[in-house]
Amino acid sequence: MSANNTQGRLSADAKAALLNRMRSTTPGGAAPVAAAATPHYDTSFATLPGFEQLKLMHAATNAFGIPNPFFRTHDVRAGATSVIGGKEVINFASYDYLGLNGAPEVMAAAHGAVDAYGTSVSASRIVAGERAFHRDFERELAAVYGTDDAIVYVSGHAANVATIGTLVGPRDVVFHDELMHNSAIVGTQLSRAHRRWFAHNDLDALEAMLAADRASYGRALIVVEGNYSMDGDAPDLARLVDLKQRYGAWLMVDEAHSLGVLGTRGLGIFEAQGIDPRSVDIWMGTLSKTLASCGGYIAGSKDLVDYLKLSAPGFVYSVGLSAPATLSALTALRLMLQEPERVARLQANSARFLAAAKAAGLDTGAADGHAILPVIVGDSLKAVVLSNLMLDRGVNVLPIIHPAVPNKAARLRFFVTAAHTPEQIDATVNILKEELPKTDAFIRKLAFAGISDMLEGGAGQG
Ligand SMILES: Cc1ncc(COP(=O)(O)O)c(C=O)c1O
Repeated sequence: MSANNTQGRLSADAKAALLNRMRSTTPGGAAPVAAAATPHYDTSFATLPGFEQLKLMHAATNAFGIPNPFFRTHDVRAGATSVIGGKEVINFASYDYLGLNGAPEVMAAAHGAVDAYGTSVSASRIVAGERAFHRDFERELAAVYGTDDAIVYVSGHAANVATIGTLVGPRDVVFHDELMHNSAIVGTQLSRAHRRWFAHNDLDALEAMLAADRASYGRALIVVEGNYSMDGDAPDLARLVDLKQRYGAWLMVDEAHSLGVLGTRGLGIFEAQGIDPRSVDIWMGTLSKTLASCGGYIAGSKDLVDYLKLSAPGFVYSVGLSAPATLSALTALRLMLQEPERVARLQANSARFLAAAKAAGLDTGAADGHAILPVIVGDSLKAVVLSNLMLDRGVNVLPIIHPAVPNKAARLRFFVTAAHTPEQIDATVNILKEELPKTDAFIRKLAFAGISDMLEGGAGQG
């Protein structure tokens, strides 16, 4: 039977044939037949969980001529515009919120850092990698939050994994929002602490969990984001502070998408909601977004930072942040503070995009209009197809699909920045409005062929 029989439906036989064809072209994919007396140990990567579904999906999208929207290669520095495949596009796929990646001062700081210190500090900070610029940067980060100190790691993901993995263990519990970023979840899993998650921003549910279970554990950590990376909405920080105080827990807030975005000076959720930042135990952030660099940080009390600097494996056993990464981020932080008009421009652009999208009847989910703008299309393949149609029309925006979000919550995610012009925003929403209906016919064809249902399932983050 052919993959496209007269009905256009991909039968079970056709799917199996597709898989067999893939296995035969995958090195190591065909499982060797074990000799009778030799135990069979699986050494194939192709039998790892999820591998078959992934390959099947690729084969199916290839069969239907749908280009892969991931790993698109940019030919230049990606800002409000970029060049992909030799063609200039409006770019909504980079979280350079204040347009500081490429700012002359930031570039000069990176060049100067390379000239003075080279491209690497060539050791963990604890053993020969420490430089004065590390401490300067940590002090200035701590000043943002009014905390005693801060610690910088070589990646934001590593900052969450290493910090959570160091602070809690098997007797402890971590409560987190169901949409919490993967790095905090992986940190919790590796720590072997108990893990409890609550429905997105449902602090009544969190309180019920704390009331019912808090007493069963040693230490408790509540982890949330200040501006959620998939939905662009914020939790009620005052209530979280109250809960952590009443139930004897630490509160950790991941500000990856809040720094430079929320509050009139871009200081983040505490500024936007008028909360004393010292009432949060652990502030976390990344250098890869507003700060136009690469790395992550934790700000908090002296005890916390001292402890992490001696105990967190991702810090102790990993190289120190390089000079260009540190000094470009430090310069970006100073520019953020000196030029609040960048923050104001980002906020105006975000509000404009949200209002235009709503006026066009697009589903923007729970977005508050703070830099992250989801346009929910409700089907992973539809999101992929729409992303490709947008690129054809000169707009680069990436789909977020299962398992990053449930299939029914699949979306295009727009990162709005201070560098976008009102014209770019208006043109994009108009193109979106025109292209979205074109996906329906395509999706009907795929659904009929039995492709779409392969992608059904729950969120991978929780
Ligand atoms: C909420 C959140 N936390 C942590 C990270 C990890 O940061 P980085 O990419 O800088 O390692 C990300 C990355 O996108 C994020 O969105």
